[in-house]
Amino acid sequence: MKIEPTSQSITEISADAIVVGIWDEKPLSGAAAELNRATNGAIEDLIGSKLVSAGSAKVTNILAPAGIKADVAVIVGLGKQDDFTAADAYQAAGAASRKLSDLPREKVAFFMDVDHMDHAIAGSMVGCVGQDVYRHEKKTNPIQTLVWATDDLKLIDDAQIVGESINLTRQLVNLPASDIFPESFAEQCVVTGKESGFEVEVWDEERLKKERCGALLAVAQGSAMKPRLVMMRYNGGPSDQKPLGLVGKGVTFDSGGLSLKPSDGMIDMKCDMAGAATVVGAMQAIAKLKLPVNVIGFTGLVENMISGTCYRLGDVVTARSGKTIEIRNTDAEGRLVLADTIDVAVEQEVGKLIDLATLTGACMVALGPNIVGLMTNDQPWADAVSTASKTAGEKVWQLPMDDEFAEQIKSNIADIKNTGEGRWGGAMTAGKLLEEFVQDTPWVHLDIAGPSFAAKPKAWIDAGASGCMVRTLIEVARQHA
Ligand code: BES
Ligand code: MN
Ligand code: ZN
Repeated sequence: MKIEPTSQSITEISADAIVVGIWDEKPLSGAAAELNRATNGAIEDLIGSKLVSAGSAKVTNILAPAGIKADVAVIVGLGKQDDFTAADAYQAAGAASRKLSDLPREKVAFFMDVDHMDHAIAGSMVGCVGQDVYRHEKKTNPIQTLVWATDDLKLIDDAQIVGESINLTRQLVNLPASDIFPESFAEQCVVTGKESGFEVEVWDEERLKKERCGALLAVAQGSAMKPRLVMMRYNGGPSDQKPLGLVGKGVTFDSGGLSLKPSDGMIDMKCDMAGAATVVGAMQAIAKLKLPVNVIGFTGLVENMISGTCYRLGDVVTARSGKTIEIRNTDAEGRLVLADTIDVAVEQEVGKLIDLATLTGACMVALGPNIVGLMTNDQPWADAVSTASKTAGEKVWQLPMDDEFAEQIKSNIADIKNTGEGRWGGAMTAGKLLEEFVQDTPWVHLDIAGPSFAAKPKAWIDAGASGCMVRTLIEVARQHA
């Protein structure tokens, strides 16, 4: 997939299709007005008769209109211009691109003179890439060349990096657990590091034992797939700047273990490494954008399986930090993996820390499928991450971290236990367990269980992995610089 600029007009350009944005409650302007003139007022007529909507991310195909060289014109509604956000730009361009991915197309030209054009370009790259990697007959056909009407070459190059990185995260998450497992995930990190310019260190099982990562290893011990921990170092900032730490949960498949999930709850659990995949996507983007910042990405990679060697309920494991954890439910495995991965990050003296994890169904109960849950031990750092997410057009909502949630994870046998009392407040009891391992590092926990993977498609993106929070992490890194 290539992104190219153009200075040609909407009527001049030869392409398989052209895309043009229209504002709600505004007269046609720019390329849309030009298209309207070339088609003898057809666009205005269509809007007048309500065959075309200017509503946000509403898409209409017009076949072979006279007056332009392209075979198809796609009109995309941009909604109201006054409160047009990065998310609107991403979704409108994504919806047009997704519509045009129904057939293989070589060249599509986008005429969307909007704020947040970088987000629109990234959206156009995401919209035409689907989850049907293994279908011989694709439903979603990536467009080969996306042409954008702009003379800002830097904007195009940067947006292309962002779009590719979101798609990398999505691809890793969408691949089944038979193809993406700890070892193959770690190899992917090595490849990505070589291509984008960051150092990669991989800890294998032997090293993890030497490092006494007892919590992570307990989860891994039931699987034939050996665990890994990956560290990705990008040094773009001054040598005296403490790195930003990004930690991702990488459970390549979550069966629940002995606390086995029912089939309905297990069907999509290849997505349980979305946190780790988000960290890899963000590292790729940050390195390729050459942001002047130091960042270390950490991924804890295991498969949570059921077998004669798996960990059991009632077991007590010793985390790398020395804390003992009573296992009350083998399906609360993500927090165990993160406990050790966070400990490694803290040891690397990261200045600030963000972890991302498909951690709890409870977070989806609290916030629904489209909003990320944020928990923290440091309000200014949480505010900074929240602000970055707003700039990036991604929805985040803060959840409380009162002491009463920590009360719930006290154990009679060990220092802590891996579940709360009953189901209530499950997102926060998980957050409180993680807090036990961050020491005094300013830390934000992002529970992405809902937004990272969707059962149904949206107008601007196929079902499956979303690549959520890659843009937010890039924005955080920009601010950190
Ligand atoms: N990976 C799941 C959480 C999840 C659920 C992610 C749905 C995406 C969609 C996690 O490991 C888990 O199983 N959590 C349990 C915790 C419980 C046993 C305390 C849950 O949420 O039910
Ligand atoms: Mn689980
Ligand atoms: Zn899990």
